[in-house]
Amino acid sequence: MKTTKLLAAASIALACSPALADGHADAGKEVFEESCERCHYSDDYAHEAESVVVAMIKAIRSGETRHRPPLKDLTDEEIASLAAFLANQ
Ligand code: HEC
Repeated sequence: MKTTKLLAAASIALACSPALADGHADAGKEVFEESCERCHYSDDYAHEAESVVVAMIKAIRSGETRHRPPLKDLTDEEIASLAAFLANQ
C-alpha cells in the first residue's frame, strides 16, 4: 500500500539522519516527490513559515480547504515533514 511505502521511506530517512529529527525535511521531500510534485513546484510555499504550511495542509486534510487530491491519508508526521521540506526551499 502506498501509505505504508511512504511511512517506510520516512522511517528510513529519519533513522539515517538523526540531525534532521527536528525537521525531517528529507522525509518530506520523498512524500512531496511521490504525491505532490506532479502539480506543485517544491518552492510553491517556500515563502511561508513551516507552521503556516502545516496549517494549510491540515485544513486540506480536514476538508476545510478544497483540494484535489483530498490528502486524507497523510499522517501528522508526514505533514510535519512536508512542511519542513516546503518551507525551507
Ligand atoms: C492533482 C494536482 C495536485 C496534487 C497532486 C497536489 N496538489 Fe496541492 N494544489 C493543487 C491546486 C490546483 C491548488 C490550488 C492552486 C493554488 O492555490 O495556487 C493546490 C493548493 C495547495 C495548497 C494551498 C492551499 C491553500 O490553503 O491555499 C497546499 C498547501 C497544497 N496544495 C499542498 C499540497 C501537498 C502537500 C500535496 C501533496 C501531498 C499536494 N498539494 C498535491 C493541486 C494539487
